[in-house]
Amino acid sequence: MQVKELLNNGKALLGDRENPALDSEVVLANILGETKEYLLSHGDDEVDSALVDLFIKYINRIKDGEPVAYILNEKEFYGLNFFVDNRTLVPRPETEQIVERVFEFIEGDNKDKESFRVLDVGTGSGNIAVAVAKHDRVSEVLALDVDENALEVAKINVEQFSLGHKIQLAESDLLDVVEEGEEFDIIVANLPYIGTIENNYVSASSEKYEPHVALFGGKSGLELYKKMFQQIVEKRISFDLLIGEFGFAQERMMKEELSTNFAHKWKIEKDLAGIERVFIVSR
Ligand SMILES: C[S@@+](CC[C@H](N)C(=O)[O-])C[C@H]1O[C@@H](n2cnc3c(N)ncnc32)[C@H](O)[C@@H]1O
Repeated sequence: MQVKELLNNGKALLGDRENPALDSEVVLANILGETKEYLLSHGDDEVDSALVDLFIKYINRIKDGEPVAYILNEKEFYGLNFFVDNRTLVPRPETEQIVERVFEFIEGDNKDKESFRVLDVGTGSGNIAVAVAKHDRVSEVLALDVDENALEVAKINVEQFSLGHKIQLAESDLLDVVEEGEEFDIIVANLPYIGTIENNYVSASSEKYEPHVALFGGKSGLELYKKMFQQIVEKRISFDLLIGEFGFAQERMMKEELSTNFAHKWKIEKDLAGIERVFIVSR
């Protein structure tokens, strides 16, 4: 079967899904080890029948709602290709905003500071930890997760990006392994924040395939953030920048938590869709 025929079959099979053409191209490009652009200029090429079968198998899994990233074992985040599977959340494009703000902090007011120590809470696939650790002046990242399965995936990514000398992975319920009075320059967190309200909007595919420990943050959604803020205060953990992501209906609650716990300056930022989704606490 020709490349162009296969792409049309994939599109037809995926029917009313969000991006049938794109998903078909991404899957076929991955199977053939080529780029999407290559496929479009080689529409008449014949595809080996074993690869045709594999393509159809993958397309059927996507049709059933399985994330493409789990099928192909890869997801791009901040321009880097991460290994992912169903042991960890699929990194989301909106989370790149956290990495951008971290780099602005490093390159802006702190451009003369030589090195930065970073704490990443709820590291998942290690996507934020790796993206941040690639900066020359980030000398150390402590990346924590309560889920040992997620940490196995993070380890694969730390190794594939050769960042073992900078990133230390550790199993920890929130900040349990962090010592009293420990000092970090930057703390980042993308903790689970789906609560009862947000739960009505979680896609069936996320709920079925992604680890629930990576999605749900108690009734209000902010239970884990609340506990983490308290731990920061009680353990007198110091930071110059604390940044994290939260859910779309949680702005008011998040503001309350920030003012209760921090005398620092803090602000809430909108995501690319114009929704308040990121908190930033700074000195
Ligand atoms: C929303 S995912 C974020 C993963 C990744 N940092 C990202 O941005 O894509 C939340 C992560 O927090 C972890 N997590 C959940 N509860 C936790 C807890 N009590 N302490 C530490 N990590 C936790 C989950 O296992 C999951 O990997």
